[in-house]
Amino acid sequence: MLFIGIDLGTSAVKLLLMDENGKIHNIVSKEYPLSFPEPGWAEQNPEDWYGQSIAGINELLAGFDKSEVAGISFGGQMHGLVVLDENDQVIRPAILWNDGRSVKETDYLNNKIGKEKLSQYTANIAFAGFTAPKILWMKENEPENFARVKKIMLPKDYLAYRLSGVHCTDYSDASGMLLLDVKNRCWSKEMIEICGISEEMLPKLFESYEAVGQVKPEIAKQLGIKEEVKVVAGAGDNAAAAVGTGTVGDGRCNISLGTSGTIFIASKDFCVDKYNALHSFGHADGNYHLMGCMLSAAACNKWWLEGILDTKDYVKEQTAITNFGNNQVFYLPYLMGERSPHNDPFARAMFIGMSMDTSRTDMTQAVMEGIAFGLRDSLEVARSLGIGIQRTKICGGGAKSAAAKKIVANVMDLSVDVIESEEGPGYGAAILAAVGCGVFASVEEAADKLVKVTATVEPEKELVAKYEERYQKFRQIYPLVKDFYHTLGTN
Ligand code: XUL
Repeated sequence: MLFIGIDLGTSAVKLLLMDENGKIHNIVSKEYPLSFPEPGWAEQNPEDWYGQSIAGINELLAGFDKSEVAGISFGGQMHGLVVLDENDQVIRPAILWNDGRSVKETDYLNNKIGKEKLSQYTANIAFAGFTAPKILWMKENEPENFARVKKIMLPKDYLAYRLSGVHCTDYSDASGMLLLDVKNRCWSKEMIEICGISEEMLPKLFESYEAVGQVKPEIAKQLGIKEEVKVVAGAGDNAAAAVGTGTVGDGRCNISLGTSGTIFIASKDFCVDKYNALHSFGHADGNYHLMGCMLSAAACNKWWLEGILDTKDYVKEQTAITNFGNNQVFYLPYLMGERSPHNDPFARAMFIGMSMDTSRTDMTQAVMEGIAFGLRDSLEVARSLGIGIQRTKICGGGAKSAAAKKIVANVMDLSVDVIESEEGPGYGAAILAAVGCGVFASVEEAADKLVKVTATVEPEKELVAKYEERYQKFRQIYPLVKDFYHTLGTN
């Protein structure tokens, strides 16, 4: 049997073909454009996601026995607002997870409705990237579009809808809409009213490992697969990545360095931190998780290396780093504002501390260190809740280099377990498809059987001490410039 895992990312869709023993047979990646119509805004065309996913599936299956395909599932960029009209046409480009336009609406939710009520209704507070503030933005700024809305969905759910015809989502992804009562796993009537929508517009809720239906006959024909192929709900990309790295059950941790950076802590029990600094979401294994999310992680490396230095040779630039723990330069990674823990769409990136002898490599190193320091901010919140984490898995493009893993291990003072497949969300999605097809009794069983740790990067005492000193300096910078950012506005 073969399973297709679709990781619907921000820069590309990555597709992965896995068998029932967890062996990966093929991986394909297809890019699509990302537009920034205004500073701090981010949009994509759902039709591009679908077109590239279909092209990707065709490429993925070329040369394989297509009748062996049993299930398809997804890990998708979270929080994006996709709206369809009565003819199932996309009304406007999707507003993405890193789009900061809904400052006013986020403010209204947190301060007029109030954080306490939001947390009571949904277990979370409002962040500009979440879906509910975007719905309010659309209602206020695009009333003609808003009046046409018949279906609201998240990015990966658009793919599931096109493939199966079922308007569905899963609990992990739905958690990031600020419309779900996370604890009780149902839509929040209060939030639906606050947003001026109706429950009929929202997708049907499934566990991530449940089959929502089968591929439509015409799509099965187009792809050359059987009509019985199951479409399994899937998960938000972070929950899918957690499955793909074996971060299931209780107390395990995963760090993902994709376009965004996240620290994900699996939990059997529902829990919320006092200040809602971490997201409290459902997990794809049927349980819960806490998560801190920085909006720009590997995106900072990409901006610095490709955008500014004009090179794609990440290996050359990053292997030049030898002076770990010693760097006068600090970098604040807030290219698109910041989510956890600052919740500040006005924040922006900056370098500080350069002198005449600062080198290109120092700056590259500062960028990588700034990403790790940003994640450490969220780890500190988890530690302040008494969550004792000693080790973590790691995945995502930004974690590929040895330098990145070394910096993370020492900045966080964590043992970093490297797994066989670094394809976090895609592998997790394929595992969810296998569970949905009955190959495994549970997500936990599947992940424990299939995910293998191949190496561990241990923190080194001296380096941890050096990074501790630097982190304490790093954390002083944002409060110093915070007010200034606000005078700049989001432009
Ligand atoms: C998580 C988040 C990002 C996106 C990236 O809350 O916004 O990690 O899911 O795709």
